[in-house]
Amino acid sequence: MIKIKNLYKSFGDKEVLKGINLDIEDSTVTTIIGASGSGKSTLLRTINLLEKCDDGKIFLDGYEITGENPNLEKIRLKIGMVFQNFNLFPNKSVIENITLAPIKVKGEDEKSAKENAIALLKSMGLEDKVYSYPNSLSGGQKQRVAIARALANKPEVLLFDEPTSALDPEMVKEVLNVIKFLAKKGLTMIIVTHEMGFAREISDNIVFMKNGIVEDIGDPNYIFYETKNENTKKFLQAVL
Ligand SMILES: Nc1ncnc2c1ncn2[C@@H]1O[C@H](COP(=O)(O)OP(=O)(O)O)[C@@H](O)[C@H]1O
Ligand SMILES: [Mg+2]
Repeated sequence: MIKIKNLYKSFGDKEVLKGINLDIEDSTVTTIIGASGSGKSTLLRTINLLEKCDDGKIFLDGYEITGENPNLEKIRLKIGMVFQNFNLFPNKSVIENITLAPIKVKGEDEKSAKENAIALLKSMGLEDKVYSYPNSLSGGQKQRVAIARALANKPEVLLFDEPTSALDPEMVKEVLNVIKFLAKKGLTMIIVTHEMGFAREISDNIVFMKNGIVEDIGDPNYIFYETKNENTKKFLQAVL
């Protein structure tokens, strides 16, 4: 579904992505692990076209999305993104946050957009927060709203950049459970995470990034128990 070919990205003279190649199959969960500064966020932001790559190509369903004049709004409906700090619109209610893109960008009618939003909120246990404002929600609730907002666009793939890193420990689980539920439903996801137990449980593939390259890749059993890659082993020893 997503094919990344020889992707390069620098900021000034700092090369952050140094030739990334990665294939993401339909209905799979890929987690990306690696030390801070290894380029994980930059890779996600490049896939979502928040950053323009310097070289290389990204394909979605066989179509290149990194061409000259990509239709950013349309592509971002297909490739949703959930951020560490939620990025909700503070001056809009929960339901306005969720229905904004479907109405404004997709041209959905207001009534069906609202019905869909309420159904999504129900599925996340947030039916009593429909008309609340973000600042009245806990971190875990905010992140579930952010996930509902991304899902409202019916994306083909959803990217998560450390979705639980800004949460108090007691709220991590409620967000991870929502992501597990989406995995069971077959949503294609790419998740940057430091939650190693979660990565082991949910991933079809784990990508270990180091210094802007895919240093190691494989299923959880390979990455956690079988790899011979010394850098992977060192990283896991440090974080486990
Ligand atoms: N917008 C930017 N401008 C300059 N440097 C950046 C920018 N974004 C990221 N970087 C640098 O790129 C490197 C990789 O960052 P990032 O992709 O955020 O890594 P990770 O998510 O793995 O921690 C870091 O050294 C970071 O400082
Ligand atoms: Mg990051």
